Amino acid sequence: MAKNIILSIAAFASLVAAAPTRLQQRAADVYNNYRGDGTTNAGWPDSSAWGSFDELWNANLPLMRQSCGWNGWGADNSDQEISDIQSAIKQVSANTGVDNRFILAIVMQESKGCVRVPTTNNGVVNPGLMQSHNGSGSCVGVNPCPSNQIFQMIQDGTAGTPAGDGLQQTLAQAAGHYGGANSAAYYAAARLYNSGSVDYSNLGNGFTSVACYADDVANRLTGWTLAASQCSP
Ligand SMILES: *[C@@H]1O[C@H](CO)[C@@H](O)[C@H](O)[C@H]1NC(C)=O
Repeated sequence: MAKNIILSIAAFASLVAAAPTRLQQRAADVYNNYRGDGTTNAGWPDSSAWGSFDELWNANLPLMRQSCGWNGWGADNSDQEISDIQSAIKQVSANTGVDNRFILAIVMQESKGCVRVPTTNNGVVNPGLMQSHNGSGSCVGVNPCPSNQIFQMIQDGTAGTPAGDGLQQTLAQAAGHYGGANSAAYYAAARLYNSGSVDYSNLGNGFTSVACYADDVANRLTGWTLAASQCSP
C-alpha cells in the first residue's frame, strides 16, 4: 500500500512536470494543412509543439510493425530490427546533432519505417529507410536485416553520402537562411532533402518532387500517423 502511494506521487510529479507543453498542444494523430514559408507566423508548428521522441516513437511503432507487409515490401520488421532502427537513430543523432525526432519523421516519410523498402531511381539511386542519395545501406530482399545495414541507412540519410546531402547538410543550409535552426529551418531542410531545392516563401513548392513533403513532416513531428492527409499546397 505504502509502495503504491509512493509510485503515484512519482507519477503525479512527472505529470505536473510535463503539464505546460501538454496543455499548449498535445502530440496527436491530426493532419493540418500548412501553407507558406514554414514559420510560426504562417501557422506552422513551433518545435515546442513537437512530440517527445518517445511519444513519436510509440505513435509510429504499430506502423513499423506492419508497414512492410502493408506495402508488399516483404516480411514485416522484427522486434530486433525495430530496436536496431531506434538505436541507429539515437546514435546518428548524437553524432551529427540532428534532432532524433526529425530523423524519425523522415524515416516514416520515406519508407514507413520498413527496413526492406525498395530502392527507387529517378536519375539518382535512393535506397533504404531514408531513401538516401546513392547511399550504400539497404536491405531489399534481406531478412533479417543486419544492424550494420540499418545503421548505414540512417547514417546515409542523416550524415549524407559522397554523392549527396543528408539531413545534416540540408539543415545547415536552411539554418543559414533563417539565421538558426528554428522549426522553419527543419521544414525547409525536409523540402531540400526531398527536392534538392527550396522556395523559402512556399515550402509547398515541390519542384518535381512531393508537394506535401514539408507539410507531412511538420505533421509527423506533432504526432500524425494515419489520419487522412488534409494537404492541399
Ligand atoms: C553512386 O555510388 C557508386 C559507388 O557506390 C558510384 O560508383 C556512382 O558513381 C555513384 N553515383 C552517383 C550518381 O554519384
